[in-house]
Amino acid sequence: CGIVAISGSAPVADRLIDGLKRLEYRGYDSAGVAIAGTDGLDRRRAPGKIVNLQALLDADPLEGTTGIAHTRWATHGKPNEANAHPHLAGRVAIVHNGIIENFRELRQSLQAGGRVFESETDSEVVAQLLDQKLSEGLSPVDAFEATLGELDGAFALAVIFQGEQGLMMGARRGSPLVLGYGEGEMFLGSDAIALAPFTRDVTYLEEGDWCVLTPDSFDIRNARGERVNRKRVTSAVNDALIERGEYDHFMLKEIHEQPESIARSIMPYVDQATGTLDIGTVATAAFTAADRTVAIACGTAYYAAFTAKYWFEQAARLSLETDIASEFRYRQPVLPQSGPALFISQSGETADTLAALRYCRENGTTAIAVVNVPESSIAREAGAIVPTHAGPEIGVASTKAFTAQLSVLAVMALAAARERGHLLPGDEVTAVKNLLALPRKVTEALEAQEQIAEIAKTLTQAKDVLFLGRGRYYPLALEGALKLKEVSYIHAEGYAAGELKHGPIALIEKDLPVVVVAPKDELFEKTISNVEEIRARGARVILISDDAGIAAAGNRADHVIRLPDGDDFTLPILAAVPLQLLAYHVAVAKGTDVDQPRNLAKSVTVE
Ligand code: G6P
Repeated sequence: CGIVAISGSAPVADRLIDGLKRLEYRGYDSAGVAIAGTDGLDRRRAPGKIVNLQALLDADPLEGTTGIAHTRWATHGKPNEANAHPHLAGRVAIVHNGIIENFRELRQSLQAGGRVFESETDSEVVAQLLDQKLSEGLSPVDAFEATLGELDGAFALAVIFQGEQGLMMGARRGSPLVLGYGEGEMFLGSDAIALAPFTRDVTYLEEGDWCVLTPDSFDIRNARGERVNRKRVTSAVNDALIERGEYDHFMLKEIHEQPESIARSIMPYVDQATGTLDIGTVATAAFTAADRTVAIACGTAYYAAFTAKYWFEQAARLSLETDIASEFRYRQPVLPQSGPALFISQSGETADTLAALRYCRENGTTAIAVVNVPESSIAREAGAIVPTHAGPEIGVASTKAFTAQLSVLAVMALAAARERGHLLPGDEVTAVKNLLALPRKVTEALEAQEQIAEIAKTLTQAKDVLFLGRGRYYPLALEGALKLKEVSYIHAEGYAAGELKHGPIALIEKDLPVVVVAPKDELFEKTISNVEEIRARGARVILISDDAGIAAAGNRADHVIRLPDGDDFTLPILAAVPLQLLAYHVAVAKGTDVDQPRNLAKSVTVE
């Protein structure tokens, strides 16, 4: 989704549309504009493309010099007018990207107080809550600060007020927001591209920042409400559709986009009234009746499938066999009798995965595709798609597409567990709560970046690096090794921790770096005994774990990287973040071409 907002002294409607057009590349299915004019707040919203919104504005223009605009990619609720942004409640209008984790609690308490909601979105609670604070007598600034204090989640916001022409506020928490400086006007945008038609003079707000703008003033505060100065830079946006913004590489930008891309990928499957999961009728029916299932993919997507094996088998008691597409397609595989085949692909164009899908279809097996590109060949040929909404991934080494795949597969495994009678209603609500908290927790996991960059410097001379994990973290160890290989060109291998003694332990010598992915779970002690075996032989251990695991490991690791708390579904997803950051920073320290590593292609359409 995209945000553009202007606090100015000349009419803004047309220029907001110009800004929205710049955001079309992100994908969207409805758009809207709200303006604070002399007659109060008013808005126009339209499903479909921006031309539809433009037509509404041509027929019925909006006058005013302060306005907010948005392109929406449906997460909660359908892409219709009622669910499109801006959301209006009393004296405020808001646009929102990301996820409001506690929207159900807030909505219930606002409704209990007599407030009437008109959309099915989580976003509307922000407008209602803010208006509620105003009606309690708070000033707009105090009301905004108090509202932010009650919201959980990872999001970006822009708001305007009735009767306060020129006043505009914005907040960044987990989702990016850029402040732009003009001549007698100020701007907000979800990225610098949206602001390119107006200004290149920008500040990338930092995590937790919020701001109060008028046409000729700006006031930036941090999460504690203190006034702060943030760097003003010239954005390097050119006419290219997609830019790196404040980041040195697309890979880093995409790693940092994960709170947003995960939120977008989970939300379409959460029924907001009940807090339960819905993956569509075809997929639901297919899993309910399944004797077993297979999941086919290549590269990073294969490791997402492999993680799903642990989830489907443990939670849904459904056997899930994974295979690499290039192997599967030629070995005349025995297909499930009554179960579906899953195809996981970012691009939706990988030749081997597509061939495997055709094999399944020809043999009468339902093909369910988890794809990031809805127009792709795999999406078109599958019997049903359960899409990820990671947005365009430019870095060749997959990051945000991987965590989006994991998020959607977690949703599918939980929904399958419920349908197969292995998940109690209360447990589903808890699992959904944990999934909704994931964007915020990914933001927390990203805070380890500087520490990881320091650890990365100690790996640049390594010839080999081992990655170990057990159970649901074994596929993460494989993905961690793949990421490091791809971008740093250092030889790396992932192993199941319990397999170490059957061969790989012969590789261990003094100072060999070993990355161990081991949050505290039922297998933790076993993994830690493997750690002791390798440390006794001189290896240098980098432990990725949660607080409980770090405490239990004591001084048995040389470096520890902390993960936020989570459950069996969210922790493997959180563990991807430090593995990505580690690979990235080793590559940067070595000076490789991070976004386009040698010999690799983003989309492999040949066998
Ligand atoms: C290529 C890319 C990998 C990707 C794999 C599968 O090898 O370099 O990053 O994981 O293809 O791609 P897909 O688009 O099917 O997920």
